[in-house]
Amino acid sequence: NRFATILAGGGGTRFWPLSRQDLPKQLLNISGNDIMLNDTIQRFDGVIPMENTIIVTHRSQATLLESIMHTSVQASNILVEPVSKNTAASILLAALYIEKNHGESLMIVFPSDHHITQEEKFRTKLEEACQIAIETDKIVTIGIKPTFAATGYGYISCKSEPLMNTPCPVYEVAEFVEKPTFVKAKSYLETGHYLWNSGMFIWKTSTIIDNFKRFLPRLYKTMLPLIAYLGTDQEEEMINQIYPLLQNISIDYGILERCDEVVVLEGDFGWNDIGSWDALGAIFPPDDEGNIVKANYVGIDTRNSIIYGEKRLITTIGLDHLIIADTEDALLICAKDRAQDIKDMVIMLKEKG
Ligand code: GDD
Ligand code: MG
Repeated sequence: NRFATILAGGGGTRFWPLSRQDLPKQLLNISGNDIMLNDTIQRFDGVIPMENTIIVTHRSQATLLESIMHTSVQASNILVEPVSKNTAASILLAALYIEKNHGESLMIVFPSDHHITQEEKFRTKLEEACQIAIETDKIVTIGIKPTFAATGYGYISCKSEPLMNTPCPVYEVAEFVEKPTFVKAKSYLETGHYLWNSGMFIWKTSTIIDNFKRFLPRLYKTMLPLIAYLGTDQEEEMINQIYPLLQNISIDYGILERCDEVVVLEGDFGWNDIGSWDALGAIFPPDDEGNIVKANYVGIDTRNSIIYGEKRLITTIGLDHLIIADTEDALLICAKDRAQDIKDMVIMLKEKG
């Protein structure tokens, strides 16, 4: 049995003012194709049956999510979190849910904020990763060759000799470093030996549950009483009771950095994490001035900027390297190299009420 678990509960605050608490980036159509969640679901079509798709989301997004999802994911397969406790909790919840209802299974975790250009190649790689996870009791990740010193990703260094060569070269992970400093990221890039963690994970439910017991025992024990209620009428009530007590940690810091039973296979299928405004440069070709414009816009001598607007006409003169994002009730003007700091602005706005 194969199950997809889509993590769709993040806020995507770095896309403010387009993303909001109840309209996170996975529900935005950033690529111009479809909302990111629908793109994610259709991407593994043929590899995992649709009825085996589980979505973990936040209470504030669940209703909207159900209404704009194309495919009919069974209502019972949408797991709703009352508070965000980061990805470790969401993954454990899904793993326990799958194991309780279907027994030992293969589980594939997908974030919902990725853009992939070569989908057929992606599916082939995913199929290979599934084979490896079935044959071994390891955590399988897909690594991506880094192209710049990103600080928002996990970095993986591999042992030099492959563990196995079929169906493709599979390497044991020597080191996993989540979100390094810029200086470290730059040095990893320069060695040429590191891959980015794509954030997609493939494992058996028993493998990941054992890793929770070992590396996040407190989270596991707090979640444990929930198992009896999964799939019953009291499921929601019990999730609401237990969730506030859970440790807030990502799977990357909680397990991937600590576990030495991780293997990686390299993927090359035009992968991008659409994490912030500056990432739009990876999916839309810029115009002759280096601008990416999604707005009613007229400019003079404006270069290398990202200009997004919903209604109003936007005009600029003599600007360089800016992000301008105009929505009905908020306007953002941000230096392009400060795009990662937009999340701090959102925190500040929350504090101000
Ligand atoms: N349900 C739920 N609940 N989903 C969540 C939560 C939560 O509390 N927090 C985050 N998510 C979802 C997000 O919506 C996203 O789809 C996915 O989980 C990953 O979270 P991000 O917040 O986007 O993680 P990241 O991009 O900073 O880092 C991860 O992905 C990178 C590649 O995209 C890590 O795995 C990195 O190592 C990796 O390089
Ligand atoms: Mg992300």
